Amino acid sequence: MTTMESLIGLVNRIQRACTVLGDYGGGDNAFSSLWEALPSVAVVGGQSSGKSSVLESIVGRDFLPRGSGIVTRRPLVLQLHKTEDGSQEYAEFLHLPKRRFTDFSLVRKEIQDETDRMTGKTKQISPVPIHLSIYSPNVVNLTLIDLPGLTKVAVEGQPESVVQDIETMVRSYVEKPNCIILAISPANQDIATSDAIKLSREVDPLGERTFGVLTKLDLMDKGTNALDVLEGRSYRLQYPWVGIVNRSQADINKNVDMIVARRKEREYFATSPDYGHLANKMGSEYLAKLLSKHLESVIRARIPSITSLINKSIEELESEMDHLGRPVAVDAGAQLYTILELCRAFDRIFKEHLDGGRPGGDR
Ligand code: GDP
Ligand code: NA
Ligand code: MG
Repeated sequence: MTTMESLIGLVNRIQRACTVLGDYGGGDNAFSSLWEALPSVAVVGGQSSGKSSVLESIVGRDFLPRGSGIVTRRPLVLQLHKTEDGSQEYAEFLHLPKRRFTDFSLVRKEIQDETDRMTGKTKQISPVPIHLSIYSPNVVNLTLIDLPGLTKVAVEGQPESVVQDIETMVRSYVEKPNCIILAISPANQDIATSDAIKLSREVDPLGERTFGVLTKLDLMDKGTNALDVLEGRSYRLQYPWVGIVNRSQADINKNVDMIVARRKEREYFATSPDYGHLANKMGSEYLAKLLSKHLESVIRARIPSITSLINKSIEELESEMDHLGRPVAVDAGAQLYTILELCRAFDRIFKEHLDGGRPGGDR
C-alpha cells in the first residue's frame, strides 16, 4: 500500500472507532471535531433513481436491498476497508460486532431485518443509521452513505410528513461541508426535475463537492440521448458527469452477477454510437476510481488540519485514559484506546512520510 492508502485507511478506521463510541463526551470535543473533519460520500436522489444499485457497483458486490418503491428506509453508513491482497472478503455490522458475514446475501437479509426492527414491516423511515463495514482486497478505502430516496408524495402506509422527514434526513448529511455528494438522476427523466440536482444546488451551489451520476441510460426513449447532460451543457458541475448502466430489475430477478453486469456495462459504452467517444470516462468502475482519487486529494489537502486535530485528540484521549483508570464502561475504554492507537499510527506514518519527502509526494 502507498502511504496515502494507509493514511486514508487509518482515517477510515478512526471514523469507525469514533462511531462505535457514539456521541461519547457529549459532542463538543477534539474528538467530535475529528469525526466531522473526515470526508464521506452520500448517495442522493429520487426514489428508484438507482442509488443502491450505484453503491453496489462501486463496491463490486451484491448486498443491498434494491427494487421499485421505498426499499431503503434507514441510512446505511458503509465503510470500505482495503485489506491485503488474497485476504478473505467479509462484512461486519456495528450492531452485530462478533459476527463475520462472508455470504453477502445474508448481509442483504440482515439490512432488511435490521430496518424492520426499527420501523416494523411498514413503509416508515427512520433516521437511525445502520453501520456496515466491508473488508476486502478489492475495494478502495471509502465511507459511503446510502439514503432513503427523496419523494414528492407519501404512499399508502406512510404518514404525510414522510416527504419532509426524508428531505430533512438527507439534508442533515449533505449540508456538511465535508460531505461529497453523489447526485443520482435517472436518464429517462428530465434533468430539470431531478431531486438530486435540486438539493445539491441548494447545499453546494458551485458544484464543488457534487458528482453528477446519470443512471438508466439504457432506458431512454429510442432516438434520444443524454449527451447534453453528460457533456455538461444541461447542468454544469465542477466535475464531469458520469453515465451508468446498472442492472435492470429483470437482471436482478435473473441473478445476473456483478462481474457480468460490469462487463455488459463496459460493452454498452464501448459499442454505443452516442457515447463511444466518452467510453473511458463512463461506468461504475470509472466512478469508483474517480471518487477514490477525489477523496484522496481531499484528505491530502486536509492532512495538516487532520493531524492537528489528531494531536489534540491524542492529548484529550490520553488524559481521558488516565482519568478513567480502570474504565467503568469497559467497551468505551477499549474504544478510546483503539482510537488513541489509530491516531498515534496516523501521526507516525504522517511524520515518516514527511521525513521521506514533502507531504503527498509519494506519486
Ligand atoms: P434506489 O431506490 O434509488 O436505491 O434505486 P435501486 O437501486 O433500488 O433501483 C431501482 C430499480 O431500478 C431497480 O429495479 C433497478 O434494477 C433499476 N435500475 C437502477 N439502475 C438502472 C439502470 O441503469 N438501468 C436499468 N435498466 N435499470 C436500473
Ligand atoms: Na428503490
Ligand atoms: Mg435504495
